[in-house]
Amino acid sequence: MPQNQIQLYYKNVMAEAIGPEHGISQKQFDELAEIVTPMIPKINQEIQGAQIWPDKTKTKFGLLHADKTIAESVMELIVEFKEHCENLVILGIGGSALGNIAVQTALNPYMYNLDPAQRKGPRLFVFDNVDPMQLGSFLDWIDNRLDKTVFNVISKSGKTPETAAQFLTIRKLLLDKLGPDALKKHIVATTDPQKGTLRKIATNAGIKCLEVPDDIGGRFSVLSAVGLFSAAMCGIDIDALLAGARDMHARTSGLDFKQNPAAVNAAIQYHYYNSGKPISVMMPYSYALKDFADWYRQLWAESLGKADSLEGGKVHVGPTPVKALGATDQHSQVQLYREGPNDKVFTFLDVENFNRKIDIGPHPDSAPELDYLSGKELGELLNKEKKATEYALLKDQRPCLSVIFPEVNAYTVGQFIFLFEVTTSFAGALFNIDTYNQPAVELGKEATFALMGKTGPYKKGMTYEQFAQKIREKTKTDRHFIV
Ligand code: PA5
Repeated sequence: MPQNQIQLYYKNVMAEAIGPEHGISQKQFDELAEIVTPMIPKINQEIQGAQIWPDKTKTKFGLLHADKTIAESVMELIVEFKEHCENLVILGIGGSALGNIAVQTALNPYMYNLDPAQRKGPRLFVFDNVDPMQLGSFLDWIDNRLDKTVFNVISKSGKTPETAAQFLTIRKLLLDKLGPDALKKHIVATTDPQKGTLRKIATNAGIKCLEVPDDIGGRFSVLSAVGLFSAAMCGIDIDALLAGARDMHARTSGLDFKQNPAAVNAAIQYHYYNSGKPISVMMPYSYALKDFADWYRQLWAESLGKADSLEGGKVHVGPTPVKALGATDQHSQVQLYREGPNDKVFTFLDVENFNRKIDIGPHPDSAPELDYLSGKELGELLNKEKKATEYALLKDQRPCLSVIFPEVNAYTVGQFIFLFEVTTSFAGALFNIDTYNQPAVELGKEATFALMGKTGPYKKGMTYEQFAQKIREKTKTDRHFIV
């Protein structure tokens, strides 16, 4: 087995590990192989942009790691912006922020922002909300640091209200404080290559742009300029990240189901969704990987939660992804996970080598009961806690997968990203839905526009003003129901 490859371990979902009622029998596994094997060549095409599911799906995230021009365009802007950048601020939401956060947490030290000695680039702040208290506190701090700050506004459409509002706020601040040239010097816009509101504003103001390539949805975009710019600015080896994705691409395109980690992973998740376990918990035993559980939550939920099948019939499918963190959530969730309904499949993220040894101190004479910890090492404790939790779950016939990282580095993280992106593509094909759209997000966006005062036609036969009135009537507080 080549060094530094992440592995998917699935013995503990099988009937031999957790019994026939909740485990997958060899016969069932072989049946899954029969269903998924013919999908492998189709997924190989699909992720490179060929539209092979009846007329609907299209994406080409599978080409991102092979496109050298993306990293080149990112590096060009790094040269231009890094020198005057002590603070990098991401303005974005959903797929335009979660990957950035996850990569940063995984690959830079915990104290990165606070300790210059632990930092190979600017401090990084990601704003993926419009909470006035959160942003207000930041604006108070950044006010006299603006000349050393770069804002990377990321929005494919450019009209997402949260990102647009943040951008307009920052734009005014820069113009007021630093004058008309500030926009060019302090903003990088990552957006659609040609169209959209942000592209228009950037072109008019001479703001430097990076591209969210065509046919790449936000949640599949972390290996494009969306995720690579902040990563490279903060000293992360983006070549290694892309090499990891490339190597996982080779593994996940293999036609042998049993050797293809994405195919096996998706098949197991699909099986459990259809066998009374619609909840999929991702539980890293590594603080560095904790935000990848958040990234996965969006990827899985937005891609697979769909009303319509590819043929247009109503199906209302979608597993519910849940994030947890070991060992923290052992003291919060595991009671439920063991004794509550057996309706979940667990995916642990395991790290073999933390690359940091911290010895636990000796116990005082007054506490001989802590002897079992003395002289041991924290990484060993964390890994043994994972084993202990897995054992406890297996004892209650709860199915457990593990993704094993030899260590957390840019190369293994690149593999992980690609593995779960392709797993999602396989799962979408199994559920027979369009993995890459998110029609249900639109209504909330449009309703926000209406409530915030947008005017003109909303849709056939209704203006935004009429739509706003309709929403106000429906959501008006009824005092009869207040206690
Ligand atoms: O995955 C997605 O497509 C979404 O989560 C988007 O990333 C999110 O809605 C933000 O959209 P935009 O980049 O257009 O501002």
